Amino acid sequence: MLRPLQIDPSKCFIAGSWVGALSGETLPLVNPSEGSTLCDIARGKSADIDAAVRAADAALAGTWGKATAAERGRMLASIGRAVLDHVDELAQLEAMDVGKPLSQARADVLALARYLEFYGGAADKVHGETIPYLDGYTVYTLREPHGVTGHIIPWNYPMQIIGRSVGAALAMGNACVLKPAEEACLTALAFAEIARQAGLPDGALNVVPGLGAEAGAALSAHPGVQHISFTGSVGVGKRIQQAVSANVVPVTLELGGKSPQVVFDDADIAAALPFLVNAGIQNAGQTCSASSRILVQRGVYDQVVEEMSGRYAQLRTGPALSDLDVGPLVSLRQKEIVDGFLAKSSDLQIVAQGQIVDDAPAGGAYVAPTLFAGVPPGHTLAQDEIFGPVQVIIPFADEAEAIAIANGTDFGLVASCWSENGARQMRMARALRAGQVFINNYGAGGGVELPFGGTGLSGHGREKGFEALYGFSVLKTVAALHH
Ligand code: NAI
Ligand code: MG
Repeated sequence: MLRPLQIDPSKCFIAGSWVGALSGETLPLVNPSEGSTLCDIARGKSADIDAAVRAADAALAGTWGKATAAERGRMLASIGRAVLDHVDELAQLEAMDVGKPLSQARADVLALARYLEFYGGAADKVHGETIPYLDGYTVYTLREPHGVTGHIIPWNYPMQIIGRSVGAALAMGNACVLKPAEEACLTALAFAEIARQAGLPDGALNVVPGLGAEAGAALSAHPGVQHISFTGSVGVGKRIQQAVSANVVPVTLELGGKSPQVVFDDADIAAALPFLVNAGIQNAGQTCSASSRILVQRGVYDQVVEEMSGRYAQLRTGPALSDLDVGPLVSLRQKEIVDGFLAKSSDLQIVAQGQIVDDAPAGGAYVAPTLFAGVPPGHTLAQDEIFGPVQVIIPFADEAEAIAIANGTDFGLVASCWSENGARQMRMARALRAGQVFINNYGAGGGVELPFGGTGLSGHGREKGFEALYGFSVLKTVAALHH
């Protein structure tokens, strides 16, 4: 039982009720701080996804579909307030499930509540336009929901991703089927119960846990789904784009990155330092917008290497509930991926590592934060998404070289420029290939108001901010001839 919400985590949430997977099968959910089983979750499959899509359809035909924009907004705002009534419980669940330090999990709960507040307030402020046209015509546009939206989310920030995707979709009047990750789905289930208790009509949100290849694949290929949003790996993103092509529905793909922070000689290094390090080790580096590459101009290179190394040496890694700087990775499988990258680094120089605390359980998925310097830009550690607490420092000579290195990966999600030169800031903002550019700061994950998404292998489509509301709706043009 997830107390005090009193839900059974081995169930799916469909049509406002808690029901077992039709096959009766379950999957173990692992606590990565210890390697122990937390509980069993439902192993949803295509029949359960079918039931969820039918429930969403029924919601669109019923109370939820008839709700006004203002009513939907008020509903989201109430759910957001209800989330705040459960901050500690949700933070505990996320910390145990994902392995993230408790205070980072708490920040995610607050972000979820903030998304609901933002999209609650925005729901009735998405206006159409009137368009001047031929004599005798009145032309206007309407923004209508897609219908049933599918949300396939990963394990790294379940609550934040639910907030930005389900929050925006519900604001526009869609009905959602959510497939959380098999590694971490407790807060998705808890969120469904909070929404139910807050009065969200049955079927407006349905949650079906299960494996990607089963429940996820079934959702992305379902002909009754009119929009898919996916956050996760590039490989699965490509498969999902193929799956939706059979039904010709739009898809938003948020596939991670290799996001650089570019530090020029004239930067305020003291101000930059916490951002340089935190953006790499937050959530143990398992962040789509993690800054895994630090590009530093030669004049301040030695200083930045030394000061980042000093911070790394103080980082402590341990169980999520100990609330240290870094927790375990989400799973031993994820640790294997990260260890695999570290095994390919024998030609590189490790300049600093954090500690794993002595009492960290042996079965936990711990990786010591590791900082490399002098890394060639073409090296696999400087090119590929590692998704662990690993950063590489790369030197550069001038602005042109900085841009070439920063843009020299297949990704383009987030980038930052650290410089006190205003003209350079403007040039870099235009030159950097990324969906978000930060000047003299770095915003991994934050900013519900700020449109977010990638280019290249980082994906396409925009989430967060008002932009997401356009993505979760369809524009209809009405041309009336009346003379
Ligand atoms: P993944 O892409 O397999 O998992 C993400 C979600 O997709 C999960 O809900 C999963 O069940 C679902 N999924 C998996 N296969 C599917 C399929 N065939 N059809 C539909 N849905 C499917 O990511 P995974 O394996 O957990 O992590 C591997 C790597 O992916 C990480 O090392 C990291 O590089 C990247 N990743 C990036 C994330 C981001 O925030 N952009 C989040 C998670 C992983
Ligand atoms: Mg996978």
